[in-house]
Amino acid sequence: MKIFAFAGALRAGSFNRMLLKLAAADARAAGAEVEIGDFRDYCPPHYDGDVEAASGLPPETQALLAKIGVADGILIASPEYNRSIPGPLKNALDWVSRAKPYRLAGKPLLMIGATSGKVGCINGFAALRITLEFQMAKVYAESYGLSGAAAAFTPDGQFVDAAEAAKLNALIKAFVTQA
Ligand SMILES: Cc1cc2nc3c(=O)[nH]c(=O)nc-3n(C[C@H](O)[C@H](O)[C@H](O)COP(=O)(O)O)c2cc1C
Repeated sequence: MKIFAFAGALRAGSFNRMLLKLAAADARAAGAEVEIGDFRDYCPPHYDGDVEAASGLPPETQALLAKIGVADGILIASPEYNRSIPGPLKNALDWVSRAKPYRLAGKPLLMIGATSGKVGCINGFAALRITLEFQMAKVYAESYGLSGAAAAFTPDGQFVDAAEAAKLNALIKAFVTQA
């Protein structure tokens, strides 16, 4: 299984980027080939119908569509913002939805995420699922949300809590083998 993985977060020290690296290692151990994309490369300007009418899809969206197109599965690690999808990720997915047929149609997709809050992305995942399933992505039934992310990683980017590492590993293994 060839997985394209990216974080729906932009900052260099992002906990979601850290989580994504751990998930990618788990997926590779489970036999998947994983490419980690830098979300900065796939962030187009704000969606504007006039821009689309004049120049079509932006290069960042075309690049993301190309990655989605060749992947057997997609892994997204995203925080929630105000109990919903972070704006840059929603914007990137809105642009992706303008390519028809939907490039996410039938693609196995796993949502994971880290937040500094206490409820580990539950509402963000619910919102993200709606947007992804509207584009016919095959969103995996389970997801993994890490709460209290600011205290959850060691300085070298490993989980502080072995139980969290095991939980993520089990989900990734299931996704790679069952999706
Ligand atoms: C605009 C904004 C909204 C946020 N909303 C939530 C939220 O709804 N739930 C939550 O647990 N954390 C929320 N946070 C805190 C994020 O979980 C935290 O900033 C996290 O580190 C972001 O992910 P990153 O480390 O990958 O950048 C919010 C942060 C920002 C900047």
